[in-house]
Amino acid sequence: MKTYKVGGAVRDQLLGYPSQETDWVVVGGTPAALIDQGFRQVGKDFPVFLHPDTQEEYALARTERKSGHGYHGFTIHADPSVTLEEDLLRRDLTINAMALDDQGVITDPYGGQDDLAKRVLRHVSPQFAEDPLRVLRVARFAARYHHLGFAVASETLELMRQLSSSGELAHLAKERIWVETERALTERDPAVYFQVLHDCSALAELIPALCVSSGMALLERAAKHTERTDCRWAALLADLPTDKAKLSSESVKAPNAHTLLASRVAEWRPQLKTALSSGEQGWQLLKALDALRRDEPFDGFCETVAALENQTAATHPACQRLRAAREAAAKVKAADMDGSLSGKALGEALQSAQAEAIAKVLETFKVASA
Ligand code: CTP
Repeated sequence: MKTYKVGGAVRDQLLGYPSQETDWVVVGGTPAALIDQGFRQVGKDFPVFLHPDTQEEYALARTERKSGHGYHGFTIHADPSVTLEEDLLRRDLTINAMALDDQGVITDPYGGQDDLAKRVLRHVSPQFAEDPLRVLRVARFAARYHHLGFAVASETLELMRQLSSSGELAHLAKERIWVETERALTERDPAVYFQVLHDCSALAELIPALCVSSGMALLERAAKHTERTDCRWAALLADLPTDKAKLSSESVKAPNAHTLLASRVAEWRPQLKTALSSGEQGWQLLKALDALRRDEPFDGFCETVAALENQTAATHPACQRLRAAREAAAKVKAADMDGSLSGKALGEALQSAQAEAIAKVLETFKVASA
């Protein structure tokens, strides 16, 4: 039985890039031998075990063949005769198909080191096409390593194109699409993820509204000023009509908070100037952002709007006004209203007093900038 470090950990070690987790492959082993050593089996689908001390994942070397659609549509073959090279062959990219033993010797049968040096994301074999999630993974790696000069090999892009037009992406669980997408949104160049998906025709299948928007350029700009994934997501959808932004977000099962922020940004960003022109309109915007009761989505809205204009919320003039308006409105409490009022009448009185306070604050900004 021999153990090798594999996958992303080897790739990132060779790249000198911080690695997130370490995966191991065990050649010549059996479940019984690992369990004897204190490993704990996890997952029913794959022969994967957790190390008793480090909790890192150790998988028995295996081959896989597609036998149906979706996540479970694989026939797995794992026995002690499966070689390291066979295990590496089933993997997605050459740079992810290398192994490192405890002596520091690299096994690299498919040219991973060469592709690392050439900065190329290239599939290992036609078996790449057996897992449509790989289309999204490649786009995510392109986003992550873009600043290092990586690009997708033309033959891999072509394979991704074939996979996208074959209808296979429709078999992906929406939750898995979101997991990849959210991870891509944390990367340094998240817009590259959507650009690669567009280039291989996957975007038209996954989020069609984006193909005819300037969302990618908006995201590219905003990502330099915010690391929040919900703000980056809202920036991407910012120039869509509100209903399309909402539907697009829901269609990939983004969390409700992301969808809410994206639709508020799409709806109110174009009206921001008007909203800040009067106390009543300002109140309507603050109400739509639930800003008189809680911080979100108000803070996210300001961060997104500012990032879309190459600024932070603290320095963005409209956001400064909005924040001052919010503070002024928050000081007006129901307890300060005429004690004889209740119900709807109290609500209306409170609204108009808050709108008045907002108008006063907005006026001071006008005077200051006159
Ligand atoms: N892998 C694959 N196809 C997939 C998922 C994973 O071939 N759809 C293989 C790749 O060899 C990959 C390894 O399994 O390197 C580990 O997968 P995972 O931990 O998901 O990704 P990493 O490559 O480690 O990348 P990250 O840094 O994003 O975790």
